[in-house]
Amino acid sequence: MRGPLDHKIFEIVAAQAEKLKVKAFVIGGYVRDHFLQRESTDIDIVVEGSGIELAEAVAGVLHTNVAVFRNFGTAMLRYEGIELEFVGARRESYRRNSRKPIVEEGTLEDDQLRRDFTINALAFSLQKDDYGTLIDPFGGIRDLDAGLIRTPTDPDTTYSDDPLRMIRAIRFATQLGFSIVPESLDSIRRNAERLNILSRERIADELHKILMAERPSEGFRLLDECGLLHLILPSISNLKSVETVNGCGHKDNFEHTLQVVDNVAAAGGDLWLRWAALLHDVGKPATKRYEEGTGWTFHGHDFIGSKMVPGIFKQLKMPLNDKMKYVQKLVLLHLRPIALVTEEVTDSAVRRLLFDAGDDIDDLMTLCRADVTSKNEYKVKAIQRNFEIVEAKLIEVEAKDAIRNFKNPISGELIMEKYGLPPCSTIGVIKEEIKNAILDGEIPNEFEAAYRLMESKAAELGLEPKSQTSKKK
Ligand code: CTP
Repeated sequence: MRGPLDHKIFEIVAAQAEKLKVKAFVIGGYVRDHFLQRESTDIDIVVEGSGIELAEAVAGVLHTNVAVFRNFGTAMLRYEGIELEFVGARRESYRRNSRKPIVEEGTLEDDQLRRDFTINALAFSLQKDDYGTLIDPFGGIRDLDAGLIRTPTDPDTTYSDDPLRMIRAIRFATQLGFSIVPESLDSIRRNAERLNILSRERIADELHKILMAERPSEGFRLLDECGLLHLILPSISNLKSVETVNGCGHKDNFEHTLQVVDNVAAAGGDLWLRWAALLHDVGKPATKRYEEGTGWTFHGHDFIGSKMVPGIFKQLKMPLNDKMKYVQKLVLLHLRPIALVTEEVTDSAVRRLLFDAGDDIDDLMTLCRADVTSKNEYKVKAIQRNFEIVEAKLIEVEAKDAIRNFKNPISGELIMEKYGLPPCSTIGVIKEEIKNAILDGEIPNEFEAAYRLMESKAAELGLEPKSQTSKKK
């Protein structure tokens, strides 16, 4: 088996450190991941002295470029797919309302003490006399073995130094299946409000990592228990309220949502499908009604939920791009396949679903299957069987009618040319008529049939062909 320092890059760093008469160590995530048997290509080197000078010396030997960030006292270089970051060992104290620290030079141990968690404060020596020795003054290996997230020093200091660490604690616990020690959990609860000094982008990055874990629900439950969730994603923490009228309660939408996210994760859903799962029911609190005789209803929660998506993305400074539109679309459509399951599956309903979902139809089906969280096994089996019928029908109709990437066989230009029209709403009326006729199965998805329908609709609207325009595609 390869040792953690087998790569020749470590020897090069060690030789240059010796030349500069400084002590260098491998520290942080790379060391942790070695003990967790996870591959890592991000290597952090901490130097008792100038990290920048050592980086420049190493870059000189490797004939590669080095990016220097003088304000932070760090330097970074890339070599054979490895990213090496150099930093001088520091003692830091943070100003109360800023993440920017006042930095003083320090020893390796000062530097380890100011790191976030004991499991992230492990170091390997690169000195000749004890090359490869593990330096673990705060019990990092003990905590790795026990599966514990613990800060090297008083958690109030660690979290108040950089409040992002509160979410990082939860993120690591979720990714690694570890527990956060009780005094750390208490401290997070005490310091929760400090999240407001963080940039929203950094918070979103951590949320992405929680969502990509095997069981994201654990992270969201912890965020909630520590009082962070309502600060970061109030629309998700709002799902928790369960009301009872005349002894009639409704499903806990928070627990249901977490189950759906876990189900999508188990089905191998990517980040954005997981976001869609997390947000699929956000419209429920706003649409909740109690109706005598019917009980609790959430009419229109798909529509209202989809309208809420841009605001949620914006609040986390996530880009309002095609990924956001994808999430919005899945939230809007998430009830459609289940409606097909309970009603009779007609070809035209399937065509409309294919038209609206387009290439996202498979992801939509994954979300819908994940949305079935009933404890009643009989009911679940019946629904899953019906999903199979819908899926078979989707394949059959798509093979026949090619609706997934529907393109109207008749273009607006063709209508304008044939009837001598300027751009106007009449063109939309004719195209809509053709689209609906295809989706309803009245005509096949073909040019000839669509052309004939255009002619009859135009005649009905009193349009005359411009002249003897030839029929062309
Ligand atoms: N670190 C810290 N406080 C933070 C962020 C990072 O103390 N808010 C320290 C930890 O020692 C961490 C190291 O900096 O191991 C590198 O940070 P980063 O690259 O963000 O994390 P990794 O631990 O490498 O893990 P991941 O790549 O999963 O984010």
